[in-house]
Amino acid sequence: MNITIAGAGYVGLVTSACLAEIGHIVICFDKDTEKIEDLNRGWCPIFEPGLQEMISRNMGEERLFFTDQANLAYEDADCILITVGTPQRADGSADTTNIDQAALDIAENIQKDVAVAIKSTVPIGTNERIEAVILDNAMPGLTVEVISNPEFLREGSGIYDTFHGDRIVIGSSHERAARIVEEIYQPLAIPVLHTDPRSAEMIKYASNTFLAAKISFINEIANLCDLSGANIEDVSTGMGMDKRIGNQFLNAGIGYGGSCFPKDTQALEQMARQNDYDFKILRAVREVNDRQKQTLYRKAKNLAGNLSGKRTAVLGLSFKPNTDDIREAPSLDLIRDLLDEGADVVVYDPVAMEKVQRLFGDKISYASSIDEAIERAELAFIVTEWKEIKEFSLSKYRESMKTPLLFDGRNCYSVKETEKHGIQYVSVGRPG
Ligand code: UGA
Repeated sequence: MNITIAGAGYVGLVTSACLAEIGHIVICFDKDTEKIEDLNRGWCPIFEPGLQEMISRNMGEERLFFTDQANLAYEDADCILITVGTPQRADGSADTTNIDQAALDIAENIQKDVAVAIKSTVPIGTNERIEAVILDNAMPGLTVEVISNPEFLREGSGIYDTFHGDRIVIGSSHERAARIVEEIYQPLAIPVLHTDPRSAEMIKYASNTFLAAKISFINEIANLCDLSGANIEDVSTGMGMDKRIGNQFLNAGIGYGGSCFPKDTQALEQMARQNDYDFKILRAVREVNDRQKQTLYRKAKNLAGNLSGKRTAVLGLSFKPNTDDIREAPSLDLIRDLLDEGADVVVYDPVAMEKVQRLFGDKISYASSIDEAIERAELAFIVTEWKEIKEFSLSKYRESMKTPLLFDGRNCYSVKETEKHGIQYVSVGRPG
């Protein structure tokens, strides 16, 4: 079976590499010539553990190809997976321009019957609409069946998630296309849920916004723990032992970021508004998250007073570990707040420095290690729990900082340990 992936973004690249890895022949198409040239030279444009190697291996074994030529990508395809981005419009809704463009490219270039699966996160009803767009613009007589096949990959563990997913959702009113797509994933041995396209589209939004709600909920509990002397770690553990609740996504912290939860909560809120429905919980999830992103900054202001001129280290900049993605990262809000306050900000991240530098230029300083960032600092903030940050020796904070005052947005250290090391330590939802 010839598989074409439309869009060499995060989902497209991980999916292309993994499908090639399990033996499929995959062509990955993107209009961005520079990106395709980079990929063909063996350079992967995103940071994702294991991806670069997997791409190179499968290119070498001639199962994975990259092209910016739509005719080459689509003319022989039996199945096309659309993985283009659906960014946020000013009103919060999802912008499906890239999907529409992909549909037109497909229509203009297909030469035979094809199954098209939309993996991108799209508003309810998009699959039906896109099928009509392709059929209206394709060569008459061709059978084109569009199905919804949302993805559930997490950045930073995309390859693992592809091979060990909890479910594959296929939303289809076409038996043949559903069968083709199910066959593609069959070697992964992941349970498949068959449903209609609208429900599949909703499963994606409902899953992401539910997870976002879980995080906002635990963050509210953590804030209350701060005020009442309870310990959020034990509270999360105790809650998570209840199988109905589940023990994942109960880590309190400095709020969620990334390209998915913030965008998808707003898009679903907007969809609800369009249907004259007031989705109260979603609004609260978003508002709680906006407030949570400021939680460390407010604690620092309370404790350290005026931050003007104070050397302040910010450790971890990406929205989560194992990615260089800084979209909606809590670190950015913190840096802006610190700059407004006149603090002398020095930042460190193992991979996301370049992206942050493009945003803040010479307004902040860039350290090449944690040691360098905390040297002579009066305050330090942990924003992203990279392994090297979590495992950084506490004694070094005491030795290197001018005043060892550490604000930890990811609860990396035990409160007792920080006490032992003579560090003034403020975390989230833990008495100390
Ligand atoms: C999320 C979903 O987890 C994926 O299933 C989905 O496919 C993806 O969005 C998407 O729609 O493309 P992702 O945004 O890559 O994946 O990362 P997550 O691991 O879900 O983390 C999102 C944010 O929540 C991060 O900022 C993380 O620090 C935060 N988080 C996560 C917490 O604050 N606490 C937790 O317990 C878990």
